[in-house]
Amino acid sequence: MRILVTGASGLLGASVCRALCVSGHHAIGTYRSHQGPFPFPVERVDLRDETAVGLLVAQLRSECIIHCAALSRVIECEREPEAALAHNVLATRILAEYAERIGAHFIYLSTDQVFDGLSGDHAEHDLPAPTNAYGHSKAMAERIVQETCKPSLILRSNNIVGRTSGFGRSFTDGLLESLQNGENVTLFNDQTRSPIHLSVMTELIVRLVRERVTGILHAGGPERLSRYETGLRLARAYGFPEHHIRSVSVATHPDQRFLHRDGTFNTTKLRLLYPDLGNEPIDSGFCADAARG
Ligand SMILES: NC(=O)c1ccc[n+]([C@@H]2O[C@H](COP(=O)([O-])OP(=O)(O)OC[C@H]3O[C@@H](n4cnc5c(N)ncnc54)[C@H](OP(=O)(O)O)[C@@H]3O)[C@@H](O)[C@H]2O)c1
Repeated sequence: MRILVTGASGLLGASVCRALCVSGHHAIGTYRSHQGPFPFPVERVDLRDETAVGLLVAQLRSECIIHCAALSRVIECEREPEAALAHNVLATRILAEYAERIGAHFIYLSTDQVFDGLSGDHAEHDLPAPTNAYGHSKAMAERIVQETCKPSLILRSNNIVGRTSGFGRSFTDGLLESLQNGENVTLFNDQTRSPIHLSVMTELIVRLVRERVTGILHAGGPERLSRYETGLRLARAYGFPEHHIRSVSVATHPDQRFLHRDGTFNTTKLRLLYPDLGNEPIDSGFCADAARG
C-alpha cells in the first residue's frame, strides 16, 4: 500500500514509517527540520505550506495518510499558543482537505490531553474538554479531520514510552540516560497515565492501516501508572538501583496548572479489537528493550 507518514523525524512517525517499510508497504515519511539520515524514503515539507502539501499529496496519491506531525509538548504549546495552532490545526486542515480529495484513509494521531485530565478513565465516547493550549489545538484538529475526511480514524495515544532510535525522545529515554549515569531523578507520584510501549503503538498502527479502521480509538497500556511507578519499572527491567528515583508531587512543578493529574484511558475497545496488544504490560517492552542492549 502507498502510505504517507508525517512527522517521520519524530518519536512515533519514525518507528511507524520503518515498520511499514519492513512490512512491505511503500511508505514515505515527511520531516521539517531534522537533519537525518533516515532509514526510509522521506520528503521535506512544512505542513503549514498549502502549496507544497498539495503538490506532495498529488504526486504520491497515498492510499493512507498517517498524520503524526505536531508540536507535541504541553509546555511548549502553552508558551507559543499561536505556533500550536499553526502546526497542529492549520497543518491538519491543509492535509485533511487534500487527503479527502484523493480518498485516502486518514489516521490522525491525537492525545489524552483533549480531556480535562481530572478523573481519568477517559473513553472514546467522552466529549473532549481540553484545559491547555496543546489539548485545545489537538481537539480542534480532531474536529477538522472528522468533518473533512470520510474514512478517518482519530487515534488518541497515551504516554508513549520505550527506547527510540535517534528520532524524537520519549520520557523514558531521558530517564534511562540519567540512570545509566548514576544520577538521581525525581518523578511525579500523582500524575497518572496509561503508558504504552512504542513497539506496541507501532504494531497497532500497522494493523489499523491494514484493516482500514475508522472512528475513534484510545491507545494506552493496560496499567494505570504514575510517572514514578513507570520509572521504577524501567529501573527494574534494566537492573538499575531504584533508590536513584525519588517521588515528588506534580504540585512542585512551576507550570503545574497545565499538567493533568489523571490522563488514563479506558482501553476496553482496544483490548476487544487487539487483545494481545491491549493487554501487553509495560514491563514486557522495557525488558525487550533492555535485552537488546
Ligand atoms: N509521544 C507521546 O507520548 C504522545 C502521546 C500522545 C499523543 N502523541 C501524538 O502522537 C504524534 C507523534 O508524537 P511524537 O512524540 O512522535 O512527536 P515528536 O517526536 O515531537 O515529533 C514531531 C514531528 O512533527 C514534525 N513537525 C512538527 N511541525 C511540523 C510542520 N509544520 N511541518 C512538518 N513537520 C512538522 C517534526 O518534524 P521536525 O522534527 O523534522 O521539525 C517531527 O517529525 C503527535 O501528534 C502527538 O500529539 C504523542
